[in-house]
Amino acid sequence: MNTQIIKVSPINPEHNVINLAAEILKIGGLVAFPTETVYGLGADAFNPTAVRKVFEAKNRPPDNPLIVHISNSDQLMELTDFLPEIGKIITDAYWPGPLTIVVKASKFVPGIVTGGLETVAVRMPNNKVALKLIEALDKPIVGPSANLSGKPSPTSAEHVFHDLNGKIDLILDAGSTEIGVESTVIDITVCPPLILRFGGLTKEKIEQLIGDVRTTEDLKYKKRSPGTRYRHYAPEAKVVLFERSDALAFNQLVQKYIEEGYKVGYIIYSDEIRPDKNLIGRILSNDIEVYAKELFHSLRDLDLQDVDVILVESVEPRGLGLAIMDRLIKASKSKNK
Ligand code: TXA
Ligand code: MG
Repeated sequence: MNTQIIKVSPINPEHNVINLAAEILKIGGLVAFPTETVYGLGADAFNPTAVRKVFEAKNRPPDNPLIVHISNSDQLMELTDFLPEIGKIITDAYWPGPLTIVVKASKFVPGIVTGGLETVAVRMPNNKVALKLIEALDKPIVGPSANLSGKPSPTSAEHVFHDLNGKIDLILDAGSTEIGVESTVIDITVCPPLILRFGGLTKEKIEQLIGDVRTTEDLKYKKRSPGTRYRHYAPEAKVVLFERSDALAFNQLVQKYIEEGYKVGYIIYSDEIRPDKNLIGRILSNDIEVYAKELFHSLRDLDLQDVDVILVESVEPRGLGLAIMDRLIKASKSKNK
């Protein structure tokens, strides 16, 4: 299969490009599209054959369900028969946006989308290209992150091409994504709601609106997002975290890995960390929003430069930092290392 990349304006998406993409989806093809978080791999959510191709292209385990993307609230009511009051409040406030809600699935949702669960994850992305594409198809589309399973999510069309070239029909290229980490996934079938995955919408913003929520860390018997069972967010290189501003720890780690014969890279943001000029790395902003936007890109860049180990400076685990630390800790625990 030849994977085509077409540029599309993020502000005023060209009709002909959107229509071409929608035609591909209509006949069961796969189209990668931008969202405000990361790029998604789109297929017609009501076409099980097309959805199966999404799992195959990503090499994704079949029991890890997909998020269904919608462009208006009527589509939500096709996907579920019951929206709890809290669901209405939270989606009125934060849709379109980096928020995914988990609700009971209606009988119309194909089992392959939910991995056989009774629930379905739904989100309305805040991105014109994505919204226009869903409108043009006039049906919801599934949209897992458009990376190979286990790799960092793609924040640019180039990342998608790198992972999925030859496996999908089209990539809509609208430049880099704004947020850079995936949406927050919250299960609203339970009371109080349960955050299954930290993401672009902060826990603090959710709690301001609906009061205390739980997170999987609070639970004795962990009910987890199915996706969290798998190796995730990991570049080829080994990710090693060190404490914020801890120059001593950083220097010791550099020395240790160099002595062991590894090529060392870094991702840092504090002034206290002063890497040797010979090391390859990225100095990111200490503004957490800018940091989030650059993180996955930086991990992928360092991989392309063949480093063996990436030393990453930890961020404070609050706000967007919760999502970032979640991804980094998973990357650092990756079993394949
Ligand atoms: O920002 C995002 O959410 C991006 C963009 C493209 O929209 N999409 C994304 O999809 O990150 P994906 O497939 O990479 O992650 C979906 C997460 C997985 O952890 C999955 O297990 C969880 O959502 N999920 C999906 N359906 C679920 C359900 N019914 N119950 C619990 N978790 C679910
Ligand atoms: Mg993903």
